[in-house]
Amino acid sequence: IGDNIGLTPALGWNSWNAWGLSVDDKKVRISAKAMADKLASHGWAYINIDDGWEADNRRADGEIATNSKFPDMKALADYVHGLGLKIGIYSSPGPRTCGGYLGSWQHEDQDAKTYGDWGIDYLKYDWCSYSEVTAKNPTLADMKKPYQVMRSALDKINRDIMFSFCQYGMGKVWEWGAEVGGNSWRTTGDIQDTWQSMSGIGFGQAAAAPYAQPGHFNDPDMLVVGKVGWGPNLHNTRLTYDEQYTHISLWCLQAVPLLIGCDMSRLDKFTLNLLTNDEVLAIDQDALGKSALPVIKKDGYEVWIKEMKDGSKAIGIFNKSDKYQTISLNREEAGIAGYKRIRDVWQQKYIINSGPDFKTSVAPHGVMLVRAYK
Ligand code: GLA
Repeated sequence: IGDNIGLTPALGWNSWNAWGLSVDDKKVRISAKAMADKLASHGWAYINIDDGWEADNRRADGEIATNSKFPDMKALADYVHGLGLKIGIYSSPGPRTCGGYLGSWQHEDQDAKTYGDWGIDYLKYDWCSYSEVTAKNPTLADMKKPYQVMRSALDKINRDIMFSFCQYGMGKVWEWGAEVGGNSWRTTGDIQDTWQSMSGIGFGQAAAAPYAQPGHFNDPDMLVVGKVGWGPNLHNTRLTYDEQYTHISLWCLQAVPLLIGCDMSRLDKFTLNLLTNDEVLAIDQDALGKSALPVIKKDGYEVWIKEMKDGSKAIGIFNKSDKYQTISLNREEAGIAGYKRIRDVWQQKYIINSGPDFKTSVAPHGVMLVRAYK
């Protein structure tokens, strides 16, 4: 069981942003079927159950059990695997999860073994009530500890499980997440489906960006596209179309896990298009595993540039203002002097644009995502 898993960021779905604690076996199966039918051919693979699957109490022998919404986790995993997909689960190193369900505290080895027996492929491990069992002002060592404990538990079982840390960026986790064996680590608090939340998180990743590498990625939280609602009040994402292009472009440029957070049974045409553009996804999945860095930051716009394995560059020109802008990039300043071909990645066509500056008009809160080739 090797180190070579998760070399590119996970592409999948997580139940939280749509279903919150009301997730159940049926919703997971429906989501898996939708992914298999509509998204898997574009590389989407993970079906991740978030909080809300755990029973109130462990069995007499200490083993973790599911609640009545998940009658048989092994059968569910078999179903998901039968569709050619992978399945993820959620726990906390504390006694309780954020939703108040059972966590893995003092049962880490046992839980890792149970996940392996069920056929789990991905674990999101959420700090939450670990605060109650560690120092009041945790040191860096205290913050690493629960992730080291679960890391070693996962290493003892005969199954590769992607390990996703969720502790909201505490202690600059990006600086030590790889060393502690995380395949990804959350860099921020929870995302909401608003421009303020999404852009605040997305454009706030400059410090973490240099730490992205194959097998170890930043995680600025899940996608807020399609129908979201955290359980009871499903609604269309409040992001405009242009804001959604910005969301997906920024996440792909940063080489982060893409975890769709919507009701998969009602994927509308726009959302489906957003999630199945292979040239856009290729930026996220590039084998070099680097994140884009913010190369230009002006009042109304930002330019993020990502080095790609084939020597090309993926460039996001983001209009953060409320008005249309014509953005003019000096080719030297933008690091693309000598890059002759420029391709609009969303539209999948080359752009004729050969002046000394690269000029483009960008919609309010929107993006021009291009790939520049020598
Ligand atoms: C925290 C996490 C969320 C989600 C919930 C579940 O808030 O950050 O992503 O997992 O807990 O309770």
